[in-house]
Amino acid sequence: MKKQEMKNNHTQKDYFRKLLLVSFEEAKRLIKKHGSPLLVLSRKKVQESYQALQRALPNVRVFYAMKSNSHPDILKALKEIGADFETASWAELKMLLKIGILAKDVLNTQPFLSEADFKSCHEVGQRSFVVDNVSQLNRLAAITTDFDLLVRLSFPNRNCQVDLSYKFGATVKEAKNIIKAAVVRGVRVHGVSFHVGSQSYSTKNYLKALKAVRKLFDELQHEGIILDTIDIGGGFPVPYTEPLPSIEHFTLPIRRKLAELFPGMKVWAEPGRFVSGLAQTLITTVNGKNIRRGIPWYYLDDGVYNSFSGRFYDHCSYKIIFEKTDTAVQSVLAGPTCDSADVVSENISLPDLEIGDIILVPAMGAYTNISATNYHGFEKTKIITID
Ligand SMILES: Cc1ncc(COP(=O)(O)O)c(C=O)c1O
Repeated sequence: MKKQEMKNNHTQKDYFRKLLLVSFEEAKRLIKKHGSPLLVLSRKKVQESYQALQRALPNVRVFYAMKSNSHPDILKALKEIGADFETASWAELKMLLKIGILAKDVLNTQPFLSEADFKSCHEVGQRSFVVDNVSQLNRLAAITTDFDLLVRLSFPNRNCQVDLSYKFGATVKEAKNIIKAAVVRGVRVHGVSFHVGSQSYSTKNYLKALKAVRKLFDELQHEGIILDTIDIGGGFPVPYTEPLPSIEHFTLPIRRKLAELFPGMKVWAEPGRFVSGLAQTLITTVNGKNIRRGIPWYYLDDGVYNSFSGRFYDHCSYKIIFEKTDTAVQSVLAGPTCDSADVVSENISLPDLEIGDIILVPAMGAYTNISATNYHGFEKTKIITID
């Protein structure tokens, strides 16, 4: 390895170690007390991330997308700092009601909310909803027209981890018809929402979307329809395997475009990953080892059916941090179930690990435990909250 390459590797290692919420010493103490595996959740980190994004998007109302992690301690930590919340179901709204959040302040962005869910949410005072087609609009409007509407637009994105315009979102042309239909039905239509794709690596798609929305708003204005809200969704990235620029830096082009195209407009955002992503560290232990086809395999006590569920559902790779500094060789890290798909990381350089060695994984807060299962009867990883 060249000198510069070694230096880069070293700085990267430091960068990711700094994202850990516990040291190896603390992790060992926690395992003694609570067992392994464990997810350590930091309330402070949740609050810091929310506030950092709020600073990076001044004048934007930031709704936390609780689908990324709805642990009650995260919801309470965010409530303490006056955060707003975004939901996708009646079940999520109920969790918020439980901690004293008012339904009228909560956004529901599920474009295919069932009639039963819509009625339940509406009955407790929720009013902000999203559709992306006329038939869903008619379905809701047949129940009541007393609600505030955003129309979801589609902006496909290849430069992100999860393209969220594959399944939802109208074209600009379709949106025009939905908005006009909403006006005719007497529904209070305020504007549009979009999601540029989760873990978006560039701001290109936000800028493209903002330009298209400006054009749409202008065209509708000519027809006498004035819109006042634009919801720029989520997508703000966290560092998983590569360092990233600061969120201030990332959002700069978005801030500029908003100021240029939408002065005075109500702007909302629905970040999930950016708020919860760095707020959890996974502690997992080597529970078995073997040489398979000449390569060391290590079997952990957590895997893709549990906290690493984001390997499947979120298409995510994580940084694996180990304590030993011995020479590393090409290895495989696998989970504890009998499924061959339960592989956490292939082609990973690891030192010679022993049974009982601990591995730490930063940035395990978003789309991890939320989509974990009890496959094989294994308990979902216990979550320990620190301040
Ligand atoms: C409608 C909607 N809003 C917000 C989010 C949160 O996105 P992210 O975690 O990329 O910030 C999602 C993620 O699936 C979503 O579907």
